[in-house]
This record gives sequence, structure tokens and C-alpha cells, in this order.
Amino acid sequence: MQKITITGGHKIHGEIKASGAKNAVLPILAATIVGQGESHIKHVPHLHDVTTMNQLLAQMGASLTVDHHADITICTDNLQNQTAPYETVKTMRASILALGPLVARYGRAKVSLPGGCPIGARPVDLHIKGLQAMGANINVHDGYIHASCDRLQGNRIVMEKVTVTGTENILIAATLAKGETLIENAAIEPEVVDLAKYLKAMGAEIRGEGTSKIYIQGKDQLYGTTHEVMPDRIEIGTFLVAAAITGGSVTVRNSCNDDLDAVFGKLREAGAEIHTTDNSVTLSMHNKRPQPVDIRTAPHPAFPTDMQAQFCALNAIADGTSHITETLFENRFMHVEELNRMGANIHVEGNQAVIKGVEKLSGAPVTATDLRASASLVLAGLAAEGKTDVHDIHYIDRGYEAIEEKMNQLGAKIIRN
Ligand code: UD1
Repeated sequence: MQKITITGGHKIHGEIKASGAKNAVLPILAATIVGQGESHIKHVPHLHDVTTMNQLLAQMGASLTVDHHADITICTDNLQNQTAPYETVKTMRASILALGPLVARYGRAKVSLPGGCPIGARPVDLHIKGLQAMGANINVHDGYIHASCDRLQGNRIVMEKVTVTGTENILIAATLAKGETLIENAAIEPEVVDLAKYLKAMGAEIRGEGTSKIYIQGKDQLYGTTHEVMPDRIEIGTFLVAAAITGGSVTVRNSCNDDLDAVFGKLREAGAEIHTTDNSVTLSMHNKRPQPVDIRTAPHPAFPTDMQAQFCALNAIADGTSHITETLFENRFMHVEELNRMGANIHVEGNQAVIKGVEKLSGAPVTATDLRASASLVLAGLAAEGKTDVHDIHYIDRGYEAIEEKMNQLGAKIIRN
């Protein structure tokens, strides 16, 4: 198993460019299924999860090329096999995003149930209920969701909970349904808006994306098109925390500042100075120790759960005590044990972590347990005294493009071994 070794104590300083968003490109790749002809997807991040999605589509029969900029040209006109197998879904839950598009275009789909996941149960009942409300016949047996229908019918779908990929699955499916679909209590995450932008460029009629009511007028056909993926707001947030935790400064180009209000707010509260331009953000910490910040995760535009672990690391060295409440996933504090191995003083009770800031963390061998947990350990390693080995680092490659190259470009000392 690969690990990375971080020699702590080097300030982050410099400028980088944000990559394309993982959580936007995955639904967009799945959505290529509903368009006839070729789509060209640009600014695609080089990530394991993207490779997995590409492999899934290729296994189904998509023709797909990736050029030297990592832009993808894809045609899904002849999918002979509408199956997302267990082996793929178990490594990447987002494979569930193939369900809606397959039923909508091909009238059938067989997608493995995701099953357990390190950060909690994460059911897909709302994806299934939404498609059933649109007329799909769905049976769950042998660990698979078997779906079929002649043509989906538009309907009013009230999501019981705000779900990002659930909204995306229904949104994509509805673009080819007969009549109008209304998704109520829809997720308003920026990645849902980016997906809608791609679908509209394919000819879909969509209103209300970015609000909790999305209206979709179904079309008989949609056509492949060109789309540039939005920047990754979680990657941007992670680099800002890297500068804040080391007392340094960073400028991130290609930033989507309007999507980062909650994160900027908490960084300012921690003592960082933040300046934005139209498409860049600069954070300066001026060598200060962070102030503790209380956080409660919730759907957009509140504080994102995907930034929670990184703020645990920041609070771990803050000048005082903070509380972090995780409201979305039940088991998303696995990084805490590892941070404590580095000298942090964090105590978890239920869905809340109480963090008593310590002056210094010290390097230690630690193990990554999921994607964002691994990011928090790298951040802690940057601030710690001595060397930190982060084991099972493969998690980080699912969601961060060239993390050590980018960090090293900013003055960090990280090697993979
Ligand atoms: C997406 C993101 C993930 C992020 C999460 C929350 C992608 C590929 N992943 O995951 O990075 O952490 O949003 O912002 O975009 N739920 C149900 N039934 C369902 C679906 C969800 O009960 O059918 C629950 C989940 O267990 C969870 C909550 O709804 O408690 C929100 O989950 P959801 O928004 O669906 O997360 P994902 O779309 O899987």
C-alpha cells in the first residue's frame, strides 16, 4: 500500500490553479448516456473516481477517448450492456448515477446496491422512489437494483431528504421523460447547477436549478455537446486550509468564490485574511495561530460536510476549544483517532467533536480512512513537527488531482513511497 511522507513545518506559500470538480464531472459523465452523438467534456480532473466512471461507461459499450489535456470525448449511442457491477459500485458509490440515465435512454438498468461505506450507511432509497414515481418498474434482488420501463413519465417528486446524487439521478432521467417533472426539496449544490448547464447545452429544458424546485420539460431526444467542468470548491477549500494551518498564504486561480461563502466565513473567523477577484482567491494567515471555529455541516449553502475533516485539523492547533457537529453522515469522524495520534485533543460524542486546540502537533504514522479524512491528515502533517507517514493514501487520489505535486509547488515537503 502506498503512503506519503510529509515533513512538517514548511509554510504554504504561492499560487496554484483549481482542478475540475469531482462531484460535477461524475454526474456529467453519467449524463452523457442521455445524449445522442459525441460529448466533449473539458477540464476533467485526473482522479481515480473519474477513471472508474470511464471504465464503467466503457464496459457498457461507450466509445471514449481521453486526450493529453485529460479532456474526454465520449459517445454512448451503442451501450449493449446496461449494468453497473458490484465490483465497480463498491469502489465508487457515485456509480449509482448511471441508474437514472440508463432507464431514461435504454429503458433498462441493473445497478448494484452500494452497500456499506466507511462514512455511514448512505442508502439510495430516494433515487429508487423518484424513478418509481416516474413509472419505472424497480425490483431489488441479488444485491442489484433492476429497473425497466417503456418511457419514463414526468411527475411531481418530493424528496424526503435533500440528496445531491439523488437529485442528479432524477434530474438526468427527467430530461428524456414524457411531460413535465418537478423535483421539490431538490439539492441546490453548485454541482447540480453545473450538471443542469450541461444538460441544457444538450437540448434539455430545465428551470429552477440552484433552487429547491427544479422543473424539467422532457424531450424526445438530446444531443452530445461540449462542456467545461466547474472548479472543485472542496479542493480550493482544502488548499486554503493548508495555508491557514501553516500560517502561510496562497492564491488559488480558477476559483468559484460565490460557492465558497460558508468556507470563507469560517476561515475569516479563524483569523485569515481573504481577498477575492472575479476568478481567484487569496488567503493570508500572517503567521498567526488559528482561532477556534464552531462548525455545523448541512446542505449547501451551509458549511459542506466535505470540508469538515479539514477544519478538524485546523481547529486541532487553534488557540482554544471548538465544536464541530456533523449532521449528514453518521460515521464521519474517523480522522479524529488519527489526529489524536498526532497529539490533537479531540473527543467525539455522538455527532459532535469537541476540539481543544494544542500548540503543536507532532508527526506520527497515521492511516487514511476515507477521502476527506486523508486530506485532513495531510493538512495536519503540514503543520506538525517532524515526519508524518499517511498510509492507505489511495483514498486521496479519488478526489485530489496531483495533491503532492500541487502542495510541493507551494513549498510543502511531501514524497510518495
Ligand atoms: C454527495 C457528494 C459527497 C457529499 C454529499 C453531501 C457526490 C458524488 N458526492 O454524496 O461528496 O459528501 O453529497 O454533500 O456528489 N440519503 C438517504 N437516501 C437516499 C440518498 C441519501 O437517506 O436515497 C441520505 C444520506 O444517507 C445522507 C443524506 O441523505 O445522510 C445526504 O446524502 P447525499 O446528498 O445523497 O450524498 P451523496 O449524493 O451520496
